[in-house]
Amino acid sequence: MNVGILGAGPFGLALAARLARHKADVRVTTRDRAAAAERAVMYPDLANTPALITDTATVLGESDLLVLALPYPVTLRLSQRFPAFAAGKLVIDVTNPLFPPDQDNPFVAGDGCLGITRALPYARIAKAFNTLTAARIDTDAPDAAPYATDDESAADAVENIARRIGLRPVRIGPLAYASHLESAALVHQLTSGALS
Ligand SMILES: NC(=O)c1ccc[n+]([C@@H]2O[C@H](COP(=O)([O-])OP(=O)(O)OC[C@H]3O[C@@H](n4cnc5c(N)ncnc54)[C@H](OP(=O)(O)O)[C@@H]3O)[C@@H](O)[C@H]2O)c1
Repeated sequence: MNVGILGAGPFGLALAARLARHKADVRVTTRDRAAAAERAVMYPDLANTPALITDTATVLGESDLLVLALPYPVTLRLSQRFPAFAAGKLVIDVTNPLFPPDQDNPFVAGDGCLGITRALPYARIAKAFNTLTAARIDTDAPDAAPYATDDESAADAVENIARRIGLRPVRIGPLAYASHLESAALVHQLTSGALS
């Protein structure tokens, strides 16, 4: 399965590195290849595979599975403007739309993955991996990877990808439970300061 990660930030790069380490076929999108390649230097598994970081059109064209690793508002805007970009694809949403209360934040619990789902009616979506930090993803720790989905093929994709990179997938329920995973990430952020 070709995995296409939209977003070459800390999370996208850490996930790409872990997938590459486990010999998965992965690509990451960026708007600025030179800058992303500089950030990728800290991941030894990415250092020798510069072609892995590429443009969005290539990733959308070549990937069976898309991972949404952009800031939530960017992801929502993208999916609202181009609802067909993920048509028929498996999509893993890792975005965390909830922020600590001292930040300017227009989103409330429940808005997140369900907003993306409404904007991408033709995709098969799972909320997954958002409860893990980029730093934890960058290890090979066998962490639990809770996920939510209504779609059996999306569940299979999460199970396969998670197991391949040494995580322990746990299906917590339907996609409506995605808000619980987003809230869990916020609580983790508030108690550890570890999430972006
Ligand atoms: N960091 C974590 O520990 C963590 C943990 C769990 C979930 N998440 C979630 O994962 C997602 C990615 O987080 P992140 O920490 O990797 O970084 P991020 O700050 O959300 O940004 C990811 C990348 O998105 C691209 N981007 C930013 N603004 C954009 C725009 N207007 N249009 C197109 N692309 C844009 C940038 O890549 P280019 O400049 O290269 O194009 C950026 O590096 C977020 O939704 C976050 O909530 C993060």
